[in-house]
Amino acid sequence: MVSRVRTVAFQGIEAVPVDVQVMIAPGKVGMQIVGLPDKAVAESRERVQAALHASGLSMPPKKVTVNLAPADLPKEGSHYDLPIALGLMAALGALPGDALAGYVVLGELSLDGTLTPVAGALPAAIGANAEGKGLICPHASGPEAAWAGADIDILAPRSLIAIANHFRGTQVLSRPEPGVQAPAVGLPDLADIKGQESAKRALEVAAAGGHNLLMVGPPGSGKSMLAQRLPSILPPLTPRELLEVSMIASIAGELSGGKLTDRRPFRAPHHSASMAAMVGGGLRARPGEVSLAHNGVLFLDEFPEFTPQVLDSLRQPLETGDCMIARANHRVTYPSRIQLIAAMNPCRCGMAGEPGYRCLRGPRCQTDYQARISGPMLDRIDLRIEVPAVSASDLIRPGKSEASAVVAARVAQARAMQRARFEALGLDCMTNAQCPTGAVEEIAQPDAAGLALLRDASEKLGFSARAYHRVLKVARTLADLDGAETVGRIHLAEAISYRMAADRMAQAA
Ligand SMILES: Nc1ncnc2c1ncn2[C@@H]1O[C@H](COP(=O)(O)OP(=O)(O)O)[C@@H](O)[C@H]1O
Ligand SMILES: [Mg+2]
Repeated sequence: MVSRVRTVAFQGIEAVPVDVQVMIAPGKVGMQIVGLPDKAVAESRERVQAALHASGLSMPPKKVTVNLAPADLPKEGSHYDLPIALGLMAALGALPGDALAGYVVLGELSLDGTLTPVAGALPAAIGANAEGKGLICPHASGPEAAWAGADIDILAPRSLIAIANHFRGTQVLSRPEPGVQAPAVGLPDLADIKGQESAKRALEVAAAGGHNLLMVGPPGSGKSMLAQRLPSILPPLTPRELLEVSMIASIAGELSGGKLTDRRPFRAPHHSASMAAMVGGGLRARPGEVSLAHNGVLFLDEFPEFTPQVLDSLRQPLETGDCMIARANHRVTYPSRIQLIAAMNPCRCGMAGEPGYRCLRGPRCQTDYQARISGPMLDRIDLRIEVPAVSASDLIRPGKSEASAVVAARVAQARAMQRARFEALGLDCMTNAQCPTGAVEEIAQPDAAGLALLRDASEKLGFSARAYHRVLKVARTLADLDGAETVGRIHLAEAISYRMAADRMAQAA
């Protein structure tokens, strides 16, 4: 007799149905798992046998075959333990035959028969719901799965015995509650930063339009400090964005306790990060930092210290908004629509361009250091600013500067204008930075004076087509911050100045 249990395999953030078939037949005593299992799935055999034994069930002295169908889809991870164990229990008659028909099952087993949490409970619950099925998952994954909807039947037992008792009717499992929304308190505030008015302005523009930003300045000028305060002026996630972000976090196993938050992600990987850590992949497919920063901010501090390969691997996600990882026998795609914030010193010693400082290595120090950022990478950064050292008078000046809440209100207003405009055009984007190239001229048509300035600037500075469109997008954001319907000369002038900062740096070198 063959018993069947439904479970899932994860491809990107999608849960693909997998059928676990268990057959007990006469033959050589033992248990075999087939259907492209990876190492963790193959080891499931030992855990399942031990857990069944601990739960008071002995394995039959027969041949047990477990097939994971479809057979050509690679199966990764430890969440196949529970479906295999329940399939076996059904085949042994320890569970009513039809008990599992309406459920998708995932979970890892300990040797003592208790269940350990697994990654991906949220996408699995959403996938199960789409098919009209319920979900059986470990107790600790329950709060996370419960976010998928109030009407899904979710069973979150602590052990194999608990689930068997539930189906026998001797102990009823209650539905898990969604994890509490984590409060967004304690974010660092912009008011802590003294002086640096133009850098704060650029940060506000970046937040309003979702633009990428590069800050260049000597050590200790407050670049890292500025970047860390960006989340405090960004608008909260919309419900749809929240779901996308949580699905990725769930797959990565980073939703501890099933706590969701509407704060935008802020990821700041160290510059020693490997390619697998940054874009995802590795032995087990897992989202990388760019995907974990989806709908939020990826902050790369000490930008030139990242290895060139890692930096260049970011070019594709920055352009397309998703990240494709090709593996030996299949490929996975994770969403990764990010806002890149980068910070760097102007040279290795960090002091190039400072008044009264002469670098011993001469101008080479600066050119060599800045050349580590490739041209195509730089071309994708709309706002490039210099963050000079804070003057003593700024530091000593009493009083606080503008608080994050005030700036956040202006950002929210500018974003509302953008959303209304994109909705009217039927475009699926949230910010000017995400606007498709084809629509840029439609949304950001400058007035006559602005057009004249843009023409002059593009001729003199030799803008690429990408640069031209990106300047227009930034100008649109500046007009939105002004509450202006049309893009004027003043907006274009500021947008062009943000793009020129890098050229000035290169010339100074
Ligand atoms: N504008 C500023 N206002 C107040 N404190 C500052 C400012 N800039 C730097 N600091 C102080 O200097 C420290 C280092 O700043 P940091 O942002 O790490 O510099 P950077 O990243 O540019 O090297 C901060 O922790 C803060 O104490
Ligand atoms: Mg720093």
